[in-house]
Amino acid sequence: MLLMAAHLVGHEARSPARDTIEALGEFEAYVRALHRSHYSLSTDLTATNLGFKDSFSPSLREGIQGAATRLIAPWSRLRARSLVKDPLRLHLGSGLSRREGWVNIDLLGLPTDLAWDLRMGLPFRDSQAEAIFHEHLLEHLPLVAVLPFLRECLRVLHVGGVLRVGVPDAGLYIRDYVEPSGFIASFRPGRPTPLLALAEAAYCYGHLSLWDGSTLCLALTEAGFEHVTERAFGESSISPAPDGPNRRMESVYAEGIKPG
Ligand SMILES: C[S@@+](CC[C@H](N)C(=O)[O-])C[C@H]1O[C@@H](n2cnc3c(N)ncnc32)[C@H](O)[C@@H]1O
Repeated sequence: MLLMAAHLVGHEARSPARDTIEALGEFEAYVRALHRSHYSLSTDLTATNLGFKDSFSPSLREGIQGAATRLIAPWSRLRARSLVKDPLRLHLGSGLSRREGWVNIDLLGLPTDLAWDLRMGLPFRDSQAEAIFHEHLLEHLPLVAVLPFLRECLRVLHVGGVLRVGVPDAGLYIRDYVEPSGFIASFRPGRPTPLLALAEAAYCYGHLSLWDGSTLCLALTEAGFEHVTERAFGESSISPAPDGPNRRMESVYAEGIKPG
């Protein structure tokens, strides 16, 4: 009895304030900070960063946003028609990173020109676009959806049109894990171990697939693109290169051309 009371007193006396990073082990503090900042690339893993930012995981949020986006699809189809121009450049999964001169497409609730769920294909006719760009979108698709999605891009491009794709380069993490050259230490500092930084790239942000340059080129080639080449940040046959400066450090790009 005495023991039980002591246990209860001990339990109740434990104030929530003690649940700060100071009271936690390095691993537990990291896991909690990560859990509460799904989209954040913040390197501040201190108690101040333990605030509750987001009640949904990104993939669940994307699921709900996707459902809302599909509800308005009939209107969006009409809007898509009004956005067709010559030349037509499509920026898919544009998020908060709008590009001037491009039709910015993402789910409802984001600053788009067109709210559209890309799981429904593209609301454009064959051969209408001269360029399609997406950056940090492909890893949000399950692997099984990747080729149908890339083939949809191929359908909408005109002959000679360019697809440019940027993805987080898992190879950068893996090479740096095996032989540290400073990438993880500078891009994701403060993680208790390099493996946890690598795992963020694989499992966080709603990511469903991992990529490197050769895997990306293989997928583009099998989707039907030709002259597929791995590209560095900013190196593009599209002028100006549409790459987002915030993606420079972590990304690999590839381009392919729609054959005649
Ligand atoms: C990591 S963000 C990248 C945003 C932007 N491209 C960038 O690099 O900053 C991924 C984007 O893909 C969008 N996305 C994911 N699934 C989608 C879908 N089925 N249809 C349309 N957009 C989608 C998300 O809403 C999100 O804005």
